[in-house]
Amino acid sequence: MDKHLDDDDLARELRADVRAGLTADSRWIPPKWFYDARGSELFEEITRLPEYYPTRTERAVLEEHAPAIARITEAKTLVELGSGSSEKTRLLLDALVARGTLGSFVPLDVSASALSAAVESLTTAYPGLSIRGVVGDMTRHLRHLPEGDNRLVAFLGGTLGNLMPAERATFLTSLRSVLHDGEWLLLGTDLVKDPAVLVPAYDDAAGVTAAFNRNVLHVINRELDADFDPSAFEHVALWDPDHEWIEMRLRSTRDQRVHIAALNLDVPFAAGGEMRTEISAKFRRDGLTAELAAAGFAPRHWWTDPNSWFGVTLAQASSAA
Ligand code: AVJ
Repeated sequence: MDKHLDDDDLARELRADVRAGLTADSRWIPPKWFYDARGSELFEEITRLPEYYPTRTERAVLEEHAPAIARITEAKTLVELGSGSSEKTRLLLDALVARGTLGSFVPLDVSASALSAAVESLTTAYPGLSIRGVVGDMTRHLRHLPEGDNRLVAFLGGTLGNLMPAERATFLTSLRSVLHDGEWLLLGTDLVKDPAVLVPAYDDAAGVTAAFNRNVLHVINRELDADFDPSAFEHVALWDPDHEWIEMRLRSTRDQRVHIAALNLDVPFAAGGEMRTEISAKFRRDGLTAELAAAGFAPRHWWTDPNSWFGVTLAQASSAA
């Protein structure tokens, strides 16, 4: 596996993010810190919850259209960003292998543990493919993507929505800049819908999302020698209709002071004081088309489920304006 991110880099970044986020006027912790081993497990559990529709909806769309994706792109290299367990990727690999064009698969993820497990099981399942994992941060290490001709970059799961709009634009532009004209982006995005469907997906009855949200406090306690009491923070998920995103927060249930020893930092929380831990933006087709065009991608195909809950876009790197 190629590593562009090691434990020292991660530790440094976590310290910088937590210091910046918890000393800001509106407090926040970036969502990438949810995903230690426990957090990744909780996320897998979320994907199986009855309320959490995105994973199964995207899978159904991919199941139906993977053969078309293979036929249209005839990709030789599949790159997957934020690959995690690479479970849905098998649908693409199967279709591209059946089409006979695919030679290699390159999954990129921040989590070395999730990545090596995925690489190991895929290497057994697809003995004819060259599979090389890259440990990296998709917003920072795109320039390390391998050369190859006719690459298809898959960015699934709706993860684009976890970036702030300005970060999204930067990310799409830098992705475009490492691709050659004609190469492909397959993008999965969750779509705007009734908040009565959206909110429970981020506030499930079994409390798995609440545990996932609080897990970031366990991560900070362990990695930065802090003394957060996770049980003194409640899980909040709300729909922001102006930004069209779900926002997750942790809300202090009492007046308290948290000490973060590795940062030599004390953070006071009033009862009801909040910090933002995630945004999960929901998209509309028109808005997405405009964002892609602004970054130099021409959308070629748009697929969705019968309810139009989740969209999958196949776009092509293009130099035409
Ligand atoms: C990482 C984009 C798949 O935003 O829906 C799930 C993460 N957060 N429940 C999302 C998440 C709360 C998720 N994705």
